[in-house]
Order: sequence, then C-alpha cells, then structure tokens
Amino acid sequence: MFFFCDREKKNILFLRIFYFILIFIINLKAFASQEKLIIAHRGASGYLPEHTLASAALAFGMKADFLELDVISTKDGHLIVMHDLTLNATTNVEEIFPERSDINGNYYSMEFKLEEVKRLGVNERSKKRKSTQLFPERFPNKHTFFKVPTLEEIIKLVRGLNKSHGRMMGLYIEIKGFAIHKKFNLNPVEKLFEILDRYDYREVTDPIWIQSFDSEVLKLMRKKYKTKLRLTQLIGENRWNLSKTDFDYLKTSNGLKEIATYANGIGPWMQQVVSGRSITGDLKLTAIVKKAHELNMIVHPYTIRADKLPSYADSFNHLLHIFFNQVKVDGIFTDFPDHVFEFIEKNKKRKNIFKL
Ligand code: G3P
Ligand code: CA
Repeated sequence: MFFFCDREKKNILFLRIFYFILIFIINLKAFASQEKLIIAHRGASGYLPEHTLASAALAFGMKADFLELDVISTKDGHLIVMHDLTLNATTNVEEIFPERSDINGNYYSMEFKLEEVKRLGVNERSKKRKSTQLFPERFPNKHTFFKVPTLEEIIKLVRGLNKSHGRMMGLYIEIKGFAIHKKFNLNPVEKLFEILDRYDYREVTDPIWIQSFDSEVLKLMRKKYKTKLRLTQLIGENRWNLSKTDFDYLKTSNGLKEIATYANGIGPWMQQVVSGRSITGDLKLTAIVKKAHELNMIVHPYTIRADKLPSYADSFNHLLHIFFNQVKVDGIFTDFPDHVFEFIEKNKKRKNIFKL
C-alpha cells in the first residue's frame, strides 16, 4: 500500500515536471516568435489631435497592436487621457476659463472638475504661442471640436472596436506626474487599478502594458498593489526633471538589472538606442537593447515620427529598418502606425526590403 502511494506520488511529480517543462517551451517559443509591436503613440497622432477618441479609432483602423495613453487626474479624481499636466497646449482652456490660470498662465488639470474639462475643445498640439502648431504639417489646430476623453471612455471604445472587428488592440497606459498628483491629494495609481480591475485587466497575459518614467511608481505597482500586469520602465534623461528617478543609473548594467526585478521591459528614448553616426559614417548603436534582452526584458523605444527624422536616417523606412532589422527592438511607439504596419508587412514578404 505504502509502495503504491509512493509510486503514485512519483508519477504525479513526474507529470507536474513534464507539464511545467511543456509550458516553459511553449512560452519560450511564443516569446521568440513574437511579432514587432506597433504602439500607436497617443493614437494616430500624426493625423488627428492626440488623445482623442477619433485618434484612437484611427489607430485601430491602421492596425496598431497597442494604443498608447497618458493619463492624469481631474480635481474630482477622474482619470482623463492627456499627456501634459496642464491643459494649455492641447485645449481651448484659455478661451473657456480666462480667469482660472495660475500666475504663470498655467491651467493644471488637477484644478478642474471632470464636468469642466468636458466643456473644453481639444486641438492639435500648439507651441507656447497658441497660434503655432508644434508639428505644422499635421491636423489644423484651429479646429477644437474634439473632446477630452476619460480613460473609461477610451477603454469602452477600444473594447467595442475589438468586438465589432474581431481584432485585438491592447492598451499601453502611462501615469503622468505621480508626485504632483500627491500634492493635490490625488492617487491616480489606485484609481487606475480600480478601473482596470473593473474591466478585467488583471493577468500578465491580458492585452495591456503599464508604463512610467518614475521607477518608484512601478515599484509601488508591483509591490504594494501586487499587479501581475506587464510593466515598462520608460527611460528619459535626468535633465528633463521628470521625477526623482536617476536615469543615468538606470542606463547602466546594474540599473538595468534592477529594472528587471520589477518590470518586464524598458522604453528608452530613441537617442539612447541610436546616438548618431561616427565620423566614418557608421551608425552609433548603444548596448542598451542587447543588455535588456540578456535580462529577458523587451525593448519599446519612443517616439518614432515620420515628420521628425533624426539626421542619421534618410527616410522613415530607413529609420524603421535601423530599429527593427539592425537594433532588433521588440516594438516602437509611433505617431504613424500606418507606415509602420506597411513596413512590417513588406518585411515579412521579402526578408529585407531595405537595401543599404
Ligand atoms: O510613453 C512613451 C512615450 O510616450 C514617452 O514620452 O512624453 O510622449 O509620454 P511621452
Ligand atoms: Ca507616454
């Protein structure tokens, strides 16, 4: 009897080990064959004002794999989709609420209730002087008939499109300015997880990534909120003064090792991946992608724009060739998901469409 139980236990153990090895191999294969991700940066923002429902729908139509979203909070704790902490550059707030700016002319979103934000029109991003566009060739910024969406409205839109088209576009959400939110007594991280939980985004396999430039925010998400969702550590430059995060350290081998303890990948600035050309004309590639891959982290650099090419690239396709075929990143944040889709499709058909 005892002998039989022992054998049975051994069999169960053997089956368990076999099962885990099988799952490991399947996951490894799935990872190895993973497609390059097209992450629509603030929607199809090369064509329509960023972070609008229209821009998100267009990104879906252009076959983006993920929709990138920046979220901030209103005074009454609602998460809205907006890149800046102020409403100045992308809305007509100065026209609607002329008396509400601070002494520097700033309109912080955290000073406005959702009902007030909803009275604003969204325009194509302006430079400081309101009349000039940051990207002059994009959608005319005189039109303000778009609205600021809430995170929930975007989620409903994306899930609706996923259902009606039978194709999945995931979400790639960034919390902006956590420290400033704290000064306003707001906790956008808690609110984010409350919303995501309500829409069943919980598991590592769910079609969602969370990103932040602030390493403390990501550690908080992993340790305090115990999220299983995939996290990306965005890497900026210390001179940008985004948070207390030391990007010079994060870019080192030790820094990257530390990131790998709480995140699944990194989102470096594109200049941190390709820094230019040497005097002999060779591309200067940094080691950041290789090092991150050695730590089993994915790499999604930002932001690849057809209307803002770096000097080392002759064309947008050339730039994509460098990032996808030479540097071998796993996906990119782009304002032009359609061009990236076309490039990837052509690459699949002919091993390498770009001849150097
Ligand atoms: O989140 C990736 C990229 O969007 C980071 O830069 O300033 O556009 O949020 P930013
Ligand atoms: Ca972002």
